[in-house]
Amino acid sequence: MAKIKVDLKTIYSTGKVTYQGKSLTLDDVVDLMRSSRDPAELKALWEGWHAVARPMRNEYGRLVGLANEGARELGYTDTGVLWRSWYDMPPDEFAQTVERLWTQLEPMYENLQCYVRARLNEKYGDAVQPRTGAIRADLLGDMWAQSWGNIYDLLAPKNADLGYDLTPSLVKQNYDAVKLARTAENFYTSIGFAPLPETFWSRSMLVRPRDREVDCHASAWDIDDKNDVRVKACFRVNADDFFTAHHELGHNFYQRAYQDQATLFKSGANDGFHEAVGDFAGLNALTPNYLKQLGLIDEVPGPQADIPYLLRMALDKVAFLPFAVIVDKWRWQVFAGEVTPDRYNDAWWALRTKYQGIVPPASRPSDAFDPGAKMHIASNIPYTRYFLADIYEFQFYRAACRLAGWSGPVNRCTIYGNEEVGARFQAMLRMGSSKPWPDALEAFTGERTLDASAVADYFAPLDRWLTDQNKGEKCGW
Ligand code: ASP
Ligand code: SER
Ligand code: ZN
Repeated sequence: MAKIKVDLKTIYSTGKVTYQGKSLTLDDVVDLMRSSRDPAELKALWEGWHAVARPMRNEYGRLVGLANEGARELGYTDTGVLWRSWYDMPPDEFAQTVERLWTQLEPMYENLQCYVRARLNEKYGDAVQPRTGAIRADLLGDMWAQSWGNIYDLLAPKNADLGYDLTPSLVKQNYDAVKLARTAENFYTSIGFAPLPETFWSRSMLVRPRDREVDCHASAWDIDDKNDVRVKACFRVNADDFFTAHHELGHNFYQRAYQDQATLFKSGANDGFHEAVGDFAGLNALTPNYLKQLGLIDEVPGPQADIPYLLRMALDKVAFLPFAVIVDKWRWQVFAGEVTPDRYNDAWWALRTKYQGIVPPASRPSDAFDPGAKMHIASNIPYTRYFLADIYEFQFYRAACRLAGWSGPVNRCTIYGNEEVGARFQAMLRMGSSKPWPDALEAFTGERTLDASAVADYFAPLDRWLTDQNKGEKCGW
């Protein structure tokens, strides 16, 4: 099993795409897909990367069998049940909870999909992107069509300017990988966290080394359960990695917050909490008031920028929801034996189309293994945690802004520099996994359940605006 895992990870992290005579790494390809608006090029890059995963299918099937053997020895029906057992409720109830949360947010997603599809149709024409049906997966500015913020320029409301563009500002202000991480650290210290230890800066990997192959997918590590925390990433200077720096450091600050717990409790209240900490920091850090304080924008834009801002956020946070559901829905089916290797790819696309409303740029080869083109499948890392985080982070944010006495539009709230709110936040993090997660959630927010209304409330003005924009469209797919 260890050998299979290393093989799969290695295929993923060393995969290259040959394009126009050049050998490109995944981060090169991802970078091109952020800004290319040429459908033929996007298709070539997308197909090139997905071809990397083809040889994974057989070994992946063996991994599933071995993982299930282990799960059964531990008393679980299959590995999916084991993964669903981590949330202080019976595994079936957890699956129902995910479904309930998704169902609450689905209409908003459908509204967004409909609006984006219409703009892509206007940009590319019927032959590339029809006005009805699913969206071509390679047109959304992201290899996995999981967050769409990079194509904001194609979707911006007419006559309403966002007021800034983070990527060029970062470049202009001479940001580099270290400065991204320093800036993220500064957010946490401003709300009362102790600075990262010196070893973080000497031992982390923040850029892709030139002399060897590495796994470039950003991750955060706790080496000694004490202070030796590190990030391994290949940051580039852009808005995505500005956010990712806050995300990764969130893991490290959480790890340090629970370092005095007993060994068994040195983990997140659940894995969704672990992903939500840094995302919560990122929500605060993207607000115009804060970016102005950093000198990344000159003027805080007026109220006309709120809808553009919410749209920009929804392209990352709302678009992500169905993707974050299907990655493990697919694996739950696979682990349960409902989907056999010959149907791996078809089942993947059935879910992608049903939930996300997307389709591949062309029909897929019969031996394709497209799930393997996503790091968390190749590396066997559970994914529902990111769906939970997408909800928890808005619950944290809503509670933080209430505690801070914020009265303006919620999307403009930032608790930057607020040590009082920071202290409450840290009290939750210090608990680690010593209590069931509802207790941890309650310690900070006063709430005990996963609540999609925090996401829905945040995006409510945008949802109304989208409904208006979509008049005359045939939404759905
Ligand atoms: N940023 C990566 C992602 O969330 C890895 C992580 O979880 O830290 O996939
Ligand atoms: N970092 C996670 C991913 O890359 C969730 O955003 O999929
Ligand atoms: Zn993470």
